[in-house]
Amino acid sequence: MTESGPQSVPSVPPVLSVWRRHADACVLLDGFHALKHALRFGAEVPVAVAGDRAGALALADELAPDVRERLDGLLAEVAHEAYAGLVARPHPTAVAALAVRPPRAANLAALARTPRRTPVVVLDQPRNLGNAGAVIRLAAGFGATGVVTTGTLDPWHPTVVRGGAGLHFATAVERLEVAELPPGPVFALDPEGEDIRGLKLPDDALLAFGSERSGLSRELRARADHLVALPMRPQVSSYNLATSVAMTLYHWSATGAVPPVS
Ligand SMILES: C[S@@+](CC[C@H](N)C(=O)[O-])C[C@H]1O[C@@H](n2cnc3c(N)ncnc32)[C@H](O)[C@@H]1O
Repeated sequence: MTESGPQSVPSVPPVLSVWRRHADACVLLDGFHALKHALRFGAEVPVAVAGDRAGALALADELAPDVRERLDGLLAEVAHEAYAGLVARPHPTAVAALAVRPPRAANLAALARTPRRTPVVVLDQPRNLGNAGAVIRLAAGFGATGVVTTGTLDPWHPTVVRGGAGLHFATAVERLEVAELPPGPVFALDPEGEDIRGLKLPDDALLAFGSERSGLSRELRARADHLVALPMRPQVSSYNLATSVAMTLYHWSATGAVPPVS
């Protein structure tokens, strides 16, 4: 063999082959906290990597001892460059994983199940991926049954999953047409509605919010049983979408029949 003879092709670490095999069908969990939440709420995670495995396990000791053992079994250390090649923007924890998206049929069954003990949040034609992620995190925190979006935004878009901090697995997240919304009284939030402070929101409510740009659509208004307003000083036009969801879920939890989530 001469000096310029055949060169060996660098081999791909086995964990990266596993990653490639699952990448198209799975959801990216970006960062330690997203992986921690997904594991806590029952996600199936076929592969997880860390640029610094010992550092990630030290974080688990500190912040998530409940899933430490599973992380120990799952996390494979890869070179930082290899990790950075798997994500759009490297996360400070240098952890990434892939999770199997829950079947749509299971989410639709959860959304349709009656009697419903906690509300469904409906985002009517939302535009902003960050808002959608923040709303899913809120819904998970308040133990809402699910988050339904109408319109073109994909609530499982990687940016939404990043904003949701892995909490898509703690509530049922799906996109539907207005005509397909689950049963239940629709309380649609609109500054022209009745003051929320005089209302009790039922546990089986659909709490609907309009788009950042144009508010509630005609179809959603037609399906609404009540229009509800959040207190707001004159001359302020509206609140941010995710902030409105936060106030409304808080009002439901503070005045509703079920005890606050523990
Ligand atoms: C940013 S706002 C939409 C503003 C939009 N320019 C409009 O014309 O309605 C997004 C959504 O948050 C909710 N929202 C914001 N402020 C509210 C308020 N004071 N009372 C009730 N809902 C509100 C509504 O559901 C609204 O459609």
